[in-house]
Amino acid sequence: MNGKRLAFLDSGASAQKPQQVIDAVTMVYQSHYANIHRGLYEFSQRLTAEFEQVREKIAKFIQAPSTRSVIFTRNSTEAINLVAQSWGRTFLEAGDEVILTHMEHHANFVPWHILKDQIGIVIKYIPLLDNGALDLSVLPELLTKKTRLVAFTHVSNVLGTVNPAKDMIAQIKSYAPEIITLVDGSQAVVHGTVDVTDLGADFYVFTGHKLYGPSGVGVLYGREAILEKMPPWQGGGDMIEQVTLEQVTYAPLPNKFEAGTPAIAEVIGLGAAIDYISGIGMDHIFEWEKDILGYANEKLSQIDGLKIYGTTSDKAGIISFTLKGCPTSDVAMILDQMGVAVRSGHHCCQPLMETLGVEGTLRASIGLYTDKDDIDQLCDAITKAQKMLM
Ligand code: ALA
Repeated sequence: MNGKRLAFLDSGASAQKPQQVIDAVTMVYQSHYANIHRGLYEFSQRLTAEFEQVREKIAKFIQAPSTRSVIFTRNSTEAINLVAQSWGRTFLEAGDEVILTHMEHHANFVPWHILKDQIGIVIKYIPLLDNGALDLSVLPELLTKKTRLVAFTHVSNVLGTVNPAKDMIAQIKSYAPEIITLVDGSQAVVHGTVDVTDLGADFYVFTGHKLYGPSGVGVLYGREAILEKMPPWQGGGDMIEQVTLEQVTYAPLPNKFEAGTPAIAEVIGLGAAIDYISGIGMDHIFEWEKDILGYANEKLSQIDGLKIYGTTSDKAGIISFTLKGCPTSDVAMILDQMGVAVRSGHHCCQPLMETLGVEGTLRASIGLYTDKDDIDQLCDAITKAQKMLM
């Protein structure tokens, strides 16, 4: 990039794609493209079967009990909006309480704020400790008879903090089993094994493009019994059982929530991505990234004036930092000239920036292809940027 060796340290925003994913998408268009679920001819039937096989792969990948609980969406954002608008608008009323955290991505903030404006729900927050962990000591005080939902990220896209999702869900459910839990797994599924059944989450969402798959496809996992009770969110083709002039009945799960032609080639590409990472092994990816993260932490900590945000021992491959006296956007632009791609700014987490008392940070995020040379290049570039800006 810019004539330099590329150190791509922005996989947290979107990951690069393996050749297998690119080939799978190309193959759909080159070889047997057709719409799915609609044609009685071979191409349509074949692609429908391949599309539905990806649903099976995803169910297995996250240990969902059935394919009926795996809904394809456009991304995590759409999955959370689906829950807020279908489940939330149906089952919540004014005064009902939803608990979020100070570290949520806007995708897990804004849909609940829209609901607050629409029906008057009350939003409460789990605050943070100085090390970037959730202050779970306040959770018992936040849970009340009016709590209907607790929605939180599994891994912070800014701090890298891995939240103790299983323990949190157990604590919430032991207070009141009917409280619904939603976990944003966008940054978690890419760094290690996720088992939604073991976690006990009612909803778990993630997106394809961070998981080495194409953009335009995401996943909502939902507990079947809850999904069954929820009305459709969007109406249209492919989600109905029967339509007459007077009334509409809806298709069974999962189609009830998949109106219109889906992202066919993208879903196939996501299937190829899951095959690819499963072939490497999520545990192997976790160990590899842990090693790189440890190396990055050690090297970055040696740079004068560099402050790391998020210092818990349980962290995924995401490091946010600021450089004393250096505006983050200026640093990011200098790094770009040196072939280093990082994200800078608020990372779609303005409330978290407020909590941290900064306007923004620089963020290096690690993927399965990141190596120690990338980290060395980042540290050299930061040192040069510092000299230029100070
Ligand atoms: N949510 C993505 C990020 O954290 C875009 O950068």
